[in-house]
Amino acid sequence: MAADLSDERAFWEKRAAAWERRIEALNLFSDDYGVPAMDALGVRAGDRVVDIGCGPGTTAVELARRVGPAGEVVALDISEAMIDAARRRAGRAEATNLRCVVHDLEAGPIEESFDAAFSRFGVMFFPAPERAFANIARSLRPGGRFSCCVWGPVGDNPWMFVPTLASAGVLGANLTLPGPGEPGPFSLADPDRFESLLANAGFNNIVVTPVNSSRVITTAHANDEVRTLLEVGPVGEAFDGADGATRQRAIDSVIDAIEPFRDGEGWRLAGSAIVVSATSNA
Ligand SMILES: C[S@@+](CC[C@H](N)C(=O)[O-])C[C@H]1O[C@@H](n2cnc3c(N)ncnc32)[C@H](O)[C@@H]1O
Repeated sequence: MAADLSDERAFWEKRAAAWERRIEALNLFSDDYGVPAMDALGVRAGDRVVDIGCGPGTTAVELARRVGPAGEVVALDISEAMIDAARRRAGRAEATNLRCVVHDLEAGPIEESFDAAFSRFGVMFFPAPERAFANIARSLRPGGRFSCCVWGPVGDNPWMFVPTLASAGVLGANLTLPGPGEPGPFSLADPDRFESLLANAGFNNIVVTPVNSSRVITTAHANDEVRTLLEVGPVGEAFDGADGATRQRAIDSVIDAIEPFRDGEGWRLAGSAIVVSATSNA
């Protein structure tokens, strides 16, 4: 039986509009991790690739470009609204070799013959990761390649925890911090646990590479950049529901809280991730 994904799906359905609206700003930071992860996949022209937890479709469109007209990309996500956003992006990019589908990988593999599977920050939310990674392995042909990036430990990612904690009280957001290994942005931060999940799921040649970057918030655009962080993240729903004055107080409280991170014409908050690549045994 598949795990109950209803809460997870509901969370992402509600965040999809903000992700689509803010995706170019998000890409500026996510690319620091997503590009090395995609390069590690070694995609070739003509490959068939699946993009897991594709969100509004940025990486799926880039994969479609890399595999070229002889290849094919399937972008999958549990959220219908994210998939609608990915379809709009694919349409604008005229990516006719890209198909976008709603799919729950915990319920079963999507197909059995992809050359490669990719994910940019889309595989940390599985309630039953053992089953999900086994289904990813089963979606690949024997020798098929997998690569992804996932966040490192929460304490190494002030870009997320400082704004979230600084604004949660002002917004009255009900935050439940997941325990170690529980579904959430930091669930795969422990490389040993992630390696053993992958090995048990049917992967070998597992390579883990730390990637460190930082999220820069500029003084000139501080209001808008902090707003982006709040809209797309864990306090997003509370931010959406707050009145204008409360939203501004939340933004101001974040700007106060990031002061220790000041660096030149703005603030620089560290972001720590790992890029993980592997090959399917099956
Ligand atoms: C942090 S966002 C990343 C989106 C996109 N990969 C990007 O980098 O722009 C995580 C995405 O994973 C999706 N997701 C969460 N749980 C999932 C699951 N069980 N199966 C498929 N997608 C899932 C969410 O709907 C969301 O679009």
